Amino acid sequence: MHFTSLRRALCIFAVVSTLFELSLAAVLAIDYGTDWMKASLMKPGVPFDVLLNKDSKRKIQSSVAWKRDDRLFGTDAANLASRFPSDSFSSLKLLQGAPFDSGSVSYFTQISTSDVVKNTRSSVSLRQGGGTEWSTEELIAMQLSYVKKLAEDVAGELVRDVVVTVPPYYTQFERDAVADAIEIAGLKTLALINDGSAVAINYAMTRTFSPTPEYHVIYDAGASSIRATVVSFASAEDPKTKAQFTQISVLGVGFDRSTGGTELDRRLREILIEAFVNKHKRDIRRDKRGMAKLWKEAGRIKTILSANSDAMATVESVAFDIDFKAKITRAQFEKSCEGLNGRFAQPIYDALANAGLSLDSIASVILTGGSSRTPMIQTAVRTAVGDDRIALNVNADEAAVLGAGLYGASLSRQFKTKDIRITDILPHEVQASYFASAPGSRTIHSLIFPRGSKHGTKKTLSFNKRKEDFSLWLDYKNEVAPGFPREILEAQISGVADALGNLTERGAVDPVVKVTVALSDSGFVSVEEAIAYGEVKSSIAGETDGAAGGEKENEQVAFSKDKKEKDESSTIPLQLTTVYSTLAPMSVADKRSARDRLRALDNMEVSKQFREEAFNTLEGYLYKLRDLLDDGPETPFMKCSKPSEREAISRKVADTSAWLHSDGEAADTSTLMEKRRALESLEKPIVHRYKEIEEFPEALNSSQKWNWSTRLFLAEARANLTAETAAGLPSKWTTEELDALEKAVKEHEAWLNTGVEKQKRVKMNEDPAIETRDMRSRAKTLELHLQRLVKRKAPKVKKTPKSTGTQENGESNETDGTQPAHDEL
Ligand SMILES: *[C@@H]1O[C@H](CO)[C@@H](O)[C@H](O)[C@H]1NC(C)=O
Ligand SMILES: *[C@@H]1O[C@H](CO)[C@@H](O)[C@H](O)[C@H]1NC(C)=O
Ligand SMILES: *[C@@H]1O[C@H](CO)[C@@H](O)[C@H](O)[C@H]1NC(C)=O
Ligand SMILES: *[C@@H]1O[C@H](CO)[C@@H](O)[C@H](O)[C@H]1NC(C)=O
Ligand SMILES: *[C@@H]1O[C@H](CO)[C@@H](O)[C@H](O)[C@H]1NC(C)=O
Repeated sequence: MHFTSLRRALCIFAVVSTLFELSLAAVLAIDYGTDWMKASLMKPGVPFDVLLNKDSKRKIQSSVAWKRDDRLFGTDAANLASRFPSDSFSSLKLLQGAPFDSGSVSYFTQISTSDVVKNTRSSVSLRQGGGTEWSTEELIAMQLSYVKKLAEDVAGELVRDVVVTVPPYYTQFERDAVADAIEIAGLKTLALINDGSAVAINYAMTRTFSPTPEYHVIYDAGASSIRATVVSFASAEDPKTKAQFTQISVLGVGFDRSTGGTELDRRLREILIEAFVNKHKRDIRRDKRGMAKLWKEAGRIKTILSANSDAMATVESVAFDIDFKAKITRAQFEKSCEGLNGRFAQPIYDALANAGLSLDSIASVILTGGSSRTPMIQTAVRTAVGDDRIALNVNADEAAVLGAGLYGASLSRQFKTKDIRITDILPHEVQASYFASAPGSRTIHSLIFPRGSKHGTKKTLSFNKRKEDFSLWLDYKNEVAPGFPREILEAQISGVADALGNLTERGAVDPVVKVTVALSDSGFVSVEEAIAYGEVKSSIAGETDGAAGGEKENEQVAFSKDKKEKDESSTIPLQLTTVYSTLAPMSVADKRSARDRLRALDNMEVSKQFREEAFNTLEGYLYKLRDLLDDGPETPFMKCSKPSEREAISRKVADTSAWLHSDGEAADTSTLMEKRRALESLEKPIVHRYKEIEEFPEALNSSQKWNWSTRLFLAEARANLTAETAAGLPSKWTTEELDALEKAVKEHEAWLNTGVEKQKRVKMNEDPAIETRDMRSRAKTLELHLQRLVKRKAPKVKKTPKSTGTQENGESNETDGTQPAHDEL
């Protein structure tokens, strides 16, 4: 299968990356979806793959929940909804960057049991059962932080850099919300990447292309939306290095923000609700737990109906103590979704129209996203584009997160990756708006980034009639989503009069104000720079080419593409202040306080965990002591303890046990540890005794061994010394040294003999008379003493010069220069 070859390629890739850089930062990629999130980790030495969660699953439910004080993630969190509907938060992506009064928020309230509240930034916070409120960004940050920890466990180091996928239609507001959540989670945004583009990168990884572009559509059916991205793939040559690379260009995007798996679930749940109401005549909509249970059941039934013509919905005690059972047919489900049929394939047509291409030029439509497996959706797409164009050659769940990981690796420039370059586009129209310079006059709109503008470009606007400070607004030309504002930001430009005056004074003719607006690689627009610019003419201030527009009533605004005119003498930077009057991203202070809240939560959980460990350890220790006391008389514990000691332990165990299940329930970690230490101090002497009994024979053997070796050495050394003295030869040792060693061994023997004698009279349940620790250390001292002498090198016999003629038979002064160097130790 194709997927296997992809895996192999990725493995090779990981190996290559290890060859290059070794101690470099890891790159995390997260595909944060409405229902599921996936993550991948790129780190030298770690095979590049999707991260597994604690249950070894490759995808993690996008949920966070509280069960009293315990915070849960993933499926555990999602499942809590049926018990604690106000404390379980899922489908949060629908709320990301959405104004409180928007269509997506009201949709969320239809499918979720969570309480939404409007926060100070006019976006959404969620309220727990106990009243604690969390912003959407904070709740998503908790999940990102959870993934960060999973990645760190695999990487064995801190992970900071992250690439997160976003739907291509995500507006500035939504992109800001993603970036804010990333920051709160303690991560750093390397980039945001449109999910279709990420899939395209993944697709290109294992394929080669010719210089003639081939066109494909990435069709991504997710939980909350469906999007189609028209992409061209071609090989190209780098003009500088002449190296080949793969060029991916996004040519068009189409999307439906309100059709997807979640909407199908919702319609299926409506069927269940209706079945319940008809049968039991009770309004289940008022019962949050019941609604949460039916939501989960709808998801289950949808999967069954993908492969079967009917399914039996069964929920025990769904609400009002009623066990619910209903047979649902696929026909019933499909009928309820009839209105959606035309919408499933529409994004493909829209994307093609935006790209200016017809279906005929498309080589394949690559299906991805969890909902692309839903028969209803797949059939609609097959019918629209033709069976032969459908390609199931990427992993529908993982292509985006793997592509995002590869993209992150290429951005970090720390990994040697296949050279793939991608240009992405803006699917919305962004205009710059400002008041005309004449007082009280109208607003002028300039389409600065038309639909399809490439990411990573800049535009410069020249204003030749501005003499005073003014504001420039960046806004969407059309409504981007129901209830979303059009205004993105206001850039206030000040210091204009002074700067123009300065330039004029220095001889510039008709100086202008230039404002640079940027569309970043991650799809954010910003006003990057504002300057006053004028050409300072040196000699003849003659005819200028400034006739353009100067006299016209309308202001002449010229675009120039990122032309850097950095003539110091003629450029003065203007002051630029960005103001958000619609949906503001989180301020630095907001983000800091959110991070502090999350950190406090983390710290609390860690200390709670320590406390639980201390509690459990103490409880376990009490069990162990009880068992020891109850054991038969032959156990080491029994043999080595006195009745009085066992009584003391028994009393303490009973006291501590009673305490643990009363006051102990609320005791802090250090008190719990203190209680354990108090018990340990009673058990320790007993344990020490049987440890000593166990270790005694070996310690004695070793002591005697060194005693014996030393004696052996002394006997031989003395004999040699005597012989050498007699022969008038130098010796390695002096008599004093050998005497000193003998004294040491005798002392050792004496100490050992006394100890061993005493020990013979010690009972098992008494403390030992001689400690094995002391035996070992004394044996070691003796050993070192002996080694020092054994290792001594033989002294050199001093050579007397031949000319003296006394060498052969003359008696030499044996101590002359041949005295062995005394060991100083
Ligand atoms: C003009 O600007 C230059 C540098 O920007 C500054 O040194 C000079 O003082 C200014 N002159 C006037 C008249 O503001
Ligand atoms: C003492 O140690 C030697 C080897 O180091 C061993 O052969 C001998 O069995 C030991 N004796 C006892 C009593 O442990
Ligand atoms: C004593 O002398 C003999 C013969 O030279 C030698 O083999 C032996 O190692 C010496 N003993 C010591 C303890 O140095
Ligand atoms: C030490 O060794 C000597 C000679 O082998 C022996 O007589 C003596 O009993 C030993 N002492 C002990 C404590 O083992
Ligand atoms: C040996 O040499 C030492 C010093 O070098 C000297 O003091 C001593 O008198 C000499 N002894 C003989 C016998 O030559």
